[in-house]
Amino acid sequence: MDSNALKQIAAEAALGYIKPGMVVGVGTGSTTNLFIDALGKAKIHVEGYVASSVATETRLKGLGLPVLNLNDTGDIPIYVDGADEVDPHFRLIKGGGGALTREKIVASAARLFVCIADGSKDKPMLGKFPLPVEVIPFARSFVARQLVKLGGNPSLRAGVTTDNGNVILDVTGLDLTDPVTMESRINLIPGVLDNGIFAQRRADVLLFGTPQGVVERR
Ligand code: 5RP
Repeated sequence: MDSNALKQIAAEAALGYIKPGMVVGVGTGSTTNLFIDALGKAKIHVEGYVASSVATETRLKGLGLPVLNLNDTGDIPIYVDGADEVDPHFRLIKGGGGALTREKIVASAARLFVCIADGSKDKPMLGKFPLPVEVIPFARSFVARQLVKLGGNPSLRAGVTTDNGNVILDVTGLDLTDPVTMESRINLIPGVLDNGIFAQRRADVLLFGTPQGVVERR
């Protein structure tokens, strides 16, 4: 099975968590796109969807699925999203698609975070995937220097402006043995909007697509 097929079975497995009447938070990325397409076919009568990016909102609307504003919903029962890396403690690196800030907001507003991914994202520890950091453009160089002081090697993601009008620094070389602390330390740098470590709001359920089928961890 290729990685797309593995993403597909993980995305379809997440449908089992979606019940009529729910408000469903929806992440961003290729795995989430497969989930959205599966939602379009499943026609579950949910109350609506909260999108974590403009791209996701466009895809949901394109399938005729109702999109709600997080400011109108209050906390939501469930959020479904992919990840770039997942560790054994359900902590994640996200933001490969640049949507990390809104993703973390919607994930934090959700009572249950279901993470869908192909099995290659299952890692013994976080840190091989370059950590995305969303930065206000005015602070780009300053933030980059502070990230170097934390042991990182930041590089500007070329040609990318986030849905919030910001830039992304992708950072290699950080020691993520304590991701909870590193998540906070990076976010304390003035000019950082958020970073792609999801350790304080980690996933609650993992659905990995593997050649042997979907592996579920809770
Ligand atoms: C987007 C994300 C994605 O969930 C992450 O990059 C995984 O993407 P994909 O499902 O395409 O592998 O965090 O900001």
